[in-house]
Amino acid sequence: MKRIKIKELLASPEIESDVLVKGWVRTKRGNKNIAFIALNDGSTINNIQVVADTAKFDENLLKDITTGSCLSVSGKLIESQGQGQNIEIHAESIELYGKSDAETYPLQKKGHSMEFLREIAHLRPRTNTFGAVFRIRHAIAFAIHKYFNDKGFFYLHTPIITGSNAEGAGELFHVTTMDLANIPHNKDGSVDFNNDFFGKPANLTVSGQLEGELGALALSDIYTFGPTFRAENSNTPRHLAEFWMVEPEMAFYDNNDNMDLAEDFVKYLIRYALENCKDDLDFLNSIIDKGLLERLNFVLGNEFIRMTYTDAIKILIDSGKKWEYPISWGKDLQAEHERYLVEEHFKKPVILTDYPKDIKAFYMKQNDDGKTVRAMDVLFPGIGEIIGGSQREENYDALLSRIKELNLPEKDLWWYLETRKFGTAPHSGFGLGFERMIIFITGIPNIRDVIPFPRTPKNAEF
Ligand code: 4AD
Ligand code: MG
Repeated sequence: MKRIKIKELLASPEIESDVLVKGWVRTKRGNKNIAFIALNDGSTINNIQVVADTAKFDENLLKDITTGSCLSVSGKLIESQGQGQNIEIHAESIELYGKSDAETYPLQKKGHSMEFLREIAHLRPRTNTFGAVFRIRHAIAFAIHKYFNDKGFFYLHTPIITGSNAEGAGELFHVTTMDLANIPHNKDGSVDFNNDFFGKPANLTVSGQLEGELGALALSDIYTFGPTFRAENSNTPRHLAEFWMVEPEMAFYDNNDNMDLAEDFVKYLIRYALENCKDDLDFLNSIIDKGLLERLNFVLGNEFIRMTYTDAIKILIDSGKKWEYPISWGKDLQAEHERYLVEEHFKKPVILTDYPKDIKAFYMKQNDDGKTVRAMDVLFPGIGEIIGGSQREENYDALLSRIKELNLPEKDLWWYLETRKFGTAPHSGFGLGFERMIIFITGIPNIRDVIPFPRTPKNAEF
């Protein structure tokens, strides 16, 4: 007999048919005569109830069926008389694949704190909450590919190891095969990379954007979707050292087209979740965050506010609020400022544009005022910045002078500059933090709990 997944079984049950299911025991209860086993195989948040007549089974086998153990069960599908389920399986044979010591199995019926579950990340996917989160994470990853594929975008695989630093920040993970106890130096004291694997300094990418631009200037519309790495020492519920980013890049888009795409894209992902992840979202709405579904529908039903950074600064100053980080024109917004605008002032997602050039990356299109660049950040309730993007500087001279002004390594960016020499074009793009989107869609408050194995300062376990 072929195994059937529990999701499929519950969706289209054929009463009186013989079925074979496999999964992990969530609970077992019963009495001398009968045992009720709730079995889950991760295909859905819902369990199937297995009913075992104790007279039919070896007493020791039944004793060994405890929470966490793994079973293969065949039997007849029956309409259930009990409460809480419509169907159940009357077991005819049970094979115990793996016992689970009841004394030491850490996932007992009582609820556990998210902090504790993080320490057992190898087992936490077996909880209802993490099962729901990882199924939703999968669905959204799939929806991202579907969205862009349907729009004629090409998935471009940008490198993980690179010699460049797209964001111009210092937060790089170096990649080397040098013996760390014995690093060769040049006469002037600098590290000699000549004999290193790549013959020059290399690092894990902080963003696929620069290579993405090369793709857009040939294929028109591309996106990358992959892991990115930042060694920033930010111990916050919104930062990971390894996170996934979705980065579309579009030739012939200005920053308004860019914002239109960003808004349409995130709304599509939310709608996709509401339509395809109903059971998991209902569960999260009841257990994690009672306002979740309402918030998702609210964002879908409202146009995002669009305003300049300069106007936003006025609002923040006029609010008269006491900020932990005092704000004035020229300063970068902190999460408290972003969240004030979104959660208190506008009570809607906000897209801020035209930031001061000194707080944004070198590649952004410079405005005529000489002070600001055509950036756009999308700010979300409960999160703050969820998307960062811009129109790109396509003018060779303007780009080169900005690179020089910032003392960036011009010779390492020769290939980037060349695209502005040969058939340059106006173009734009943005990066969506995938885990931040999953935080928003699941209502899970901490980013460490929406990625299977989080990497944060001092933590690379599993
Ligand atoms: O604003 P960022 O730094 O923009 C870029 O990297 C651009 N190259 C994107 C582009 O235009 N193609 O990062 C983009 C998004 C942020 O808005 C945030 O959602 C997420 O990536 N992000 C992080 N998510 C988790 N942990 C971190 N440490 C993150 N840093 C950025
Ligand atoms: Mg940003």
